[in-house]
Amino acid sequence: MNKNDPIAVFDSGVGGISVLKELMKLLPNENYIYLGDSKNAPYGTKSAEEIIKLSNDDVTFLLEKGAKAIVIACNTATSVAAKGLREKYPDIPIIGIEPAVKPAVLYKIHPTVIVMATPLTLKQDKFDELARKYDNDANIIALPCPDLVKYIERGIVEGPELDKHLEELFSPFRYLKVDSVVLGCTHYPHIKEAVNKAFGYRATIFDGGSGTARETKRRLEEKGLLNDSAQKGELRMFNTLGTQEIMDLSYFLLNR
Ligand code: DGL
Repeated sequence: MNKNDPIAVFDSGVGGISVLKELMKLLPNENYIYLGDSKNAPYGTKSAEEIIKLSNDDVTFLLEKGAKAIVIACNTATSVAAKGLREKYPDIPIIGIEPAVKPAVLYKIHPTVIVMATPLTLKQDKFDELARKYDNDANIIALPCPDLVKYIERGIVEGPELDKHLEELFSPFRYLKVDSVVLGCTHYPHIKEAVNKAFGYRATIFDGGSGTARETKRRLEEKGLLNDSAQKGELRMFNTLGTQEIMDLSYFLLNR
């Protein structure tokens, strides 16, 4: 492994681009490869076995492209596949992401926190443990959002159709004072403005992207793998769907 080799980032689709943006902000001189598996999206409504298999395929592809580290920019894949991948590739830094429950709970006294994520993420023991840790400090409500990723994969990141879907999703909380909302799926930061609007701009929104970027930096530093180039790095973008539309959407989300 070489310092100039790229950091590889993958997700079930265009969601992980929200994490890639944080990485590029923090570590602009690194080279990157991004893989979106939009052909198989969404991951969050599939079985754990299927996601383990797909994540292994994603990582094999990225290692063949010469990755020096892997960022699993997908909460769903992290919850079910990160452990196995770390066992399989002990020498490669593999960084995962998890719902940003901690900052959302700690930012005020006993807040009501809604955690939006895929059904598979919320079904895992890993999420249970995380939520249980803060049970006494907050009113934590897990909200599975099985259909939301499909909107974002189709490029619907604002507008009346999305607003209506969000309104339905959030309708059980209409009379609740919600203090914070955790975007526990990397697709959701792309619709942060719509979520904010749906809560009347009264809730504070949290996501795990910048924390994951900081953790990536720390892990690369530890291994002596940070790129010390003085020039801006390069990005190579791949998507299993292989259409022009998905590439256009990927760059649109990256540059917005
Ligand atoms: N972006 C992914 C996550 O963070 C998964 C979305 C999906 O494909 O269901 O969970």
